[in-house]
Amino acid sequence: MQLLLFGATGRTGQVLHRMAEAAGWSVYAPSHADCNMEDSRAVAQTVLQSGAHAVVNCAAISGLEACADNPLRAHLVNAVAPATMALACRHTGARFVHLSTDYVLAGHKAGAKTESAKCKPISIYGESKREGELQVAEALPSALILRVSWICGNPAHPSFVESIIHKARAAEPLSAIADKFSMPTDAEDIARVILSLIPTRESGIFHVCSTGEPVSWHTCAQWALQAAAEAGLLTVLPPLTPLRLKDAAFFREPRPQHTAMEPSRLLTLGIRMPSAHQTITRAILKSAVSI
Ligand SMILES: NC(=O)c1ccc[n+]([C@@H]2O[C@H](COP(=O)([O-])OP(=O)(O)OC[C@H]3O[C@@H](n4cnc5c(N)ncnc54)[C@H](OP(=O)(O)O)[C@@H]3O)[C@@H](O)[C@H]2O)c1
Repeated sequence: MQLLLFGATGRTGQVLHRMAEAAGWSVYAPSHADCNMEDSRAVAQTVLQSGAHAVVNCAAISGLEACADNPLRAHLVNAVAPATMALACRHTGARFVHLSTDYVLAGHKAGAKTESAKCKPISIYGESKREGELQVAEALPSALILRVSWICGNPAHPSFVESIIHKARAAEPLSAIADKFSMPTDAEDIARVILSLIPTRESGIFHVCSTGEPVSWHTCAQWALQAAAEAGLLTVLPPLTPLRLKDAAFFREPRPQHTAMEPSRLLTLGIRMPSAHQTITRAILKSAVSI
């Protein structure tokens, strides 16, 4: 079985590439240079000529500031390209899986959100990703749209969680935002869910993330430091300063405050997800091997 994978050099795509091959898929992973997703003709041709049984889109412009600096590029890559893939899959009959984000959600109210929660993005990134969701669903109702959040667990692409350990080991001062809440997700769990859902008849939006109460970056960082100390990567637990979202002057684009998701539909299907604490601990143990 052939799988066409966009974004295979990214944090999630890299892990999915490895796990899909291990599961017996023959993976064709065009690079950015092979197929620039700003060019919808190239995207359509790549899908139509691939002969793939399944197409997975892990590519995106996921930096909020990068999207704000070039909204047209964000729209082309995050909305037009996935819509083009969906249309091309309608022609070929391939299964299509597209990744989206918790940043499409309205982030005003505390608490974990199910798949039916209201969407109201507040950034150009969030708007472009929501547009991508809507266009994919319209072009190909059988497509799977998987919303993920705070991806970690790929040591080759350190996330905030792994980076805090590198900073702690370099004795740099540590701080983390304590009043913004979401859910960490291990890239391996995303890949596992993708590979499990492809053979099913499921469609539409799924929340793919860890389980439990919403957590802040500060809590994730505390858990990461604790796990690193237990793994022998740190001799002492360094101080960690809590920051407020409104004081984070290094963000040029607004971040939604409460976008933690609940993987309700996955749980209904019997697909288990780890707790947020297990996800952070596992990410640190994986990065310990590569330090
Ligand atoms: N990272 C997170 O915490 C997070 C949170 C929520 C949702 N998400 C969503 O999850 C998905 C995967 O995110 P990720 O963090 O794994 O991705 P990532 O590490 O940022 O990788 C993005 C991928 O997209 C490719 N790409 C970017 N622009 C391209 C273009 N014009 N043409 C072709 N390829 C292009 C990149 O290739 P090059 O590197 O070669 O440019 C790279 O392979 C995305 O849909 C993202 O929106 C991520």
